[in-house]
Amino acid sequence: MTESTPPRPSFAGPFFFSFTAILLIAVLALLPFWAGKPVEDGLQGIAKFIGRFHPVVLHLPIGMLVWVLILETGNLFAGKAGGPSSRMPLMFTALSAVIAALLGFVLYQSTPDYDAELVERHLYGGLFFACATVATFAFKCWVDSLDGLGAGFYRILLLGCAAVMGFTSHDGASLTHGKGYLTDHAPDPLRKLLGLPERKSPKSAAAADSGEQIVYREIIVPILERKCYSCHNVDKQKGRYRMDEYELLLKGGKEGDGIIPGNSAASNVIVRIELPGDDDEHMPPEGKKDLDPHELVLLKWWIDQGAPMETRLADLAVTDEVRDAIGKIVPEPTAENEEAPVDESSNVLKAEIQRLQAEFPAALNYEFQGSGQLTFTAVGLRGKFGDEQLAMLKPVLPAMASLDLSHTSVTDKGVSLLASATNLKSLRLAGTSLSDVSLETLSGLRNIESLNLYGTQVTGQGVMMLASLQGLGNLYLWQTQVDEAALKNLREKMPDCEILTGL
Ligand code: HEC
Repeated sequence: MTESTPPRPSFAGPFFFSFTAILLIAVLALLPFWAGKPVEDGLQGIAKFIGRFHPVVLHLPIGMLVWVLILETGNLFAGKAGGPSSRMPLMFTALSAVIAALLGFVLYQSTPDYDAELVERHLYGGLFFACATVATFAFKCWVDSLDGLGAGFYRILLLGCAAVMGFTSHDGASLTHGKGYLTDHAPDPLRKLLGLPERKSPKSAAAADSGEQIVYREIIVPILERKCYSCHNVDKQKGRYRMDEYELLLKGGKEGDGIIPGNSAASNVIVRIELPGDDDEHMPPEGKKDLDPHELVLLKWWIDQGAPMETRLADLAVTDEVRDAIGKIVPEPTAENEEAPVDESSNVLKAEIQRLQAEFPAALNYEFQGSGQLTFTAVGLRGKFGDEQLAMLKPVLPAMASLDLSHTSVTDKGVSLLASATNLKSLRLAGTSLSDVSLETLSGLRNIESLNLYGTQVTGQGVMMLASLQGLGNLYLWQTQVDEAALKNLREKMPDCEILTGL
């Protein structure tokens, strides 16, 4: 009888895998140095085809590594008996990570439109992740052959791989979806925690109905943001064209001028949009939502007006078509106005609204879809809109949230009707003949947040009546009779209100 000795562990496996791992890592590490930066237009032909499988394949190593982590967490609690080995799934993690990295490398070489800094970081992250999983797998082979020796370090390696994966996939997501894809809609407390600014305040969205708005920033940018920015931004510059900055938007990409002020027909942006939908060069490309007709009208109009950057709506020539198009822009619902009270407007009121909408085309709108709140802008009517017309709005005034009567011929007599507009949040009376007489009425608008009295006859004594309006956040008093002493007094009484004057 010979004593049974435990079988000598075989190290052939670990040696083989370690050797392969070193080779693979060497190849991956040398790849960027050997290939250099992508050429001018990127690799053509089959490379373009293959590279696009990168976003498909990359989910494999991510899922596999998660599985490995779950298995190992289970093993940690299973004690000596041990659970299922994570070796096989780890092998597939490493294999798929190498394939994903190689495909990513081909994509990088065939698509030179991405933001160089971000794409390079993502590239090195991906290569490093592939190398790390390969090395971890080789290490795992040794751990198994040595009967669990080094298992603790193996777990640390796994966690390291997961961390690299986290960073790398975040960069990857930023490349495809643009920075902030994950955080843009995060609730404000979370954004604060992450050191991000609060989301856009609803005040700016609610301003989308008055002549004071800056056309480029408040009308054009939101359109481009929805339809074009996703591929033409800092991180992703298809056709080497960035549209998210005014100068670059005009400058264009590799084909030259993007926008030629004053000539929409010759502007590449419009040319591309107006190509037939099945043309390869049509923008946005197939599968993306086309511009709505009213968006195209506005874009062309803005370009033909000289594509100004700072000009207000009221200072540009507006045709009926453009006015209609502006009326179709619905301010995006933001967190705050989603919560706004939705008056169940009666059928009578609805009929009234429809009648008034026919009377004043494009001037009367719902604040946002499904809201019981209304907005009215007389910006297209100006002098033609007076007390008589305002009186026609009387039935809907209680539901009015925003009212723009700037530069109309409305007088103090008409303004007295606004006493019933108790839900009014924003009121513009700039450039009217309004005097102190009206301020008594206005001081009764308990919900008012923004009041524009620019260029009216109001005096320092009169505006003191507004001091009781707790919610007033913006008060515009340029070119009024309000003197410096009264202003100082008012500012003391209303510390939370931003009072804008030329003084
Ligand atoms: C899904 C991604 C995507 C979206 C969205 C997109 N584009 Fe493009 N764009 C591309 C690609 C890719 C190219 C480069 C290939 C080409 O020239 O057709 C390009 C090129 C262009 C060019 C030519 C730039 C140059 O000088 O070479 C213009 C102009 C353009 N896009 C305008 C637009 C406009 C306007 C929109 C929004 C209405 C838009 N794009 C939305 C992907 C996109």
